[in-house]
Amino acid sequence: MALATKAEANTERIGRPGDPCVMVIFGASGDLTRRKLIPALYNLGKNQLLSREFAVVGVAHDAMSTEEFRGKLKQDLHQFADVPLDPDMETWFEERMYYLTGDFGDPNLYQQLKDLLQKIDTDHGTHQNYFYYLAVAPDFFGPVVEKLSAIGLMSEENHHWRRVIIEKPFGHDLESAKALNKQLLKVVDESQIYRIDHYLGKETVQNIMAFRFANGIFEPIWNRRYIDHVQISVAETVGVEKRGGYYDHAGALRDMVPNHIMQLVSLTAMEPPISFQADAVRDEQAKILHAIQPLTSEEVLSRTVRGQYGEGEFVGQHVPGYRSESAVPPDSRTETYVAMKLQIDNWRWAGVPFYIRTGKRMSARNTHIVIQFRQAPFVLFRETSVETLMPNQLVLHIQPEEGISLRFAAKRPGPVMRLGTVDMDFEYSDYFGKQISTGYERLLHDCMVGDATLFQRADMVEAGWSVISPMLDVWKALPPRSFPNYAAGTWGPKEADALLEHDGRHWRNFEE
Ligand code: BG6
Repeated sequence: MALATKAEANTERIGRPGDPCVMVIFGASGDLTRRKLIPALYNLGKNQLLSREFAVVGVAHDAMSTEEFRGKLKQDLHQFADVPLDPDMETWFEERMYYLTGDFGDPNLYQQLKDLLQKIDTDHGTHQNYFYYLAVAPDFFGPVVEKLSAIGLMSEENHHWRRVIIEKPFGHDLESAKALNKQLLKVVDESQIYRIDHYLGKETVQNIMAFRFANGIFEPIWNRRYIDHVQISVAETVGVEKRGGYYDHAGALRDMVPNHIMQLVSLTAMEPPISFQADAVRDEQAKILHAIQPLTSEEVLSRTVRGQYGEGEFVGQHVPGYRSESAVPPDSRTETYVAMKLQIDNWRWAGVPFYIRTGKRMSARNTHIVIQFRQAPFVLFRETSVETLMPNQLVLHIQPEEGISLRFAAKRPGPVMRLGTVDMDFEYSDYFGKQISTGYERLLHDCMVGDATLFQRADMVEAGWSVISPMLDVWKALPPRSFPNYAAGTWGPKEADALLEHDGRHWRNFEE
């Protein structure tokens, strides 16, 4: 029985290949290109999800010829592809890689790009469909798109399409996010902008929708009548690594909350969309973001917690505190941890707190969503200690484990009625095998077929910033006095535990 189910579950995903097109990568000499984008394109090609009429143009400051670029990508692919490489496929790829050296501010570069794209259209039949991946510092987003537009490389006449992919940060607060959207929307249409949130490339994040809307049994209890509260934790064990310069200006709140965490909140809380059309899904997500009650200044103080890691131990190794990381000032007041309690003001969720936390250098790398159900009326178990009367919890494990578990009470064997807590676990890999993915395959493919469901719209970005705006303001006005306030390798500051204990609740921590 179980075997039959597994075989059924393992049915290959079917998808049509992307449209004929050219992918232009600005910032092609950087890490993202070699670690993620090129391996993702290779995986797509291998699964017949790339058009045969496809090419890549890399654009960057570094002086390099197309030949050198091809050689470099070949090496990188060998280093970063997690799959055995097929020599024919490698050659196919190599033949459609091009490179242009230039300064993103120089109009000549765009003329050269236009000429090269025309040649590629002739040589590879790419139908004048282009998408631009801006793997560049966010300051360049506006200027690059303006220049592409000025030379006609964003115009969608004669049935061809032109799209641009950008990845966060989209501004550093609400004002700058609005300014960026305005700058882009002056020269291109919203439908041409694909704002990536790499969390939406994760299978388990996409699966939140499948889990909720493809199963009849959960939706009826997915509301304030049955759910006590929701916990969303994005715990990381890494510190800031080589990104101290960026991170010290951003902090955990900006870096993780308006984007990745708001995606998790909105997918967990949204109403069923009327279809899987991009705007049907995104409209429902946006409604949730708008329904999150903005915190007053007093609430920022009582419902949010910020932290910064000091030195500590992780798997037996001493690790330095945040203030000793490279490119971080020794008196930095930037938070590396944040926890908060949010309320969604709509009929489904009124009165159900969403507790959220994320931090660097925590005890374990673990992203999960805990749905805690209301306690059953335990009058029958008056004699049982309260600790054993655990409420039901449904846990969506996003990473590193990918699965779903349900916690419930069961009778312990024996002549007396005693309860125990048990977990029923499902792991994706048991049913579907391990999927090799960089997390970018689905997103790149979606862009090539014009499906924007998993990309953020301007209004969603702005709504995400609106949620955290009051926190940014209050925190700026009242700099933290107790940093560092948690040791590396722990579950964060004690105030974050107190945030839940105050409401008679506890974080659920997963150690592995
Ligand atoms: C990035 C943040 O967007 O997401 C990083 O800038 C963070 O600080 C990363 O480490 C987490 O992504 P993942 O896929 O490792 O959970």
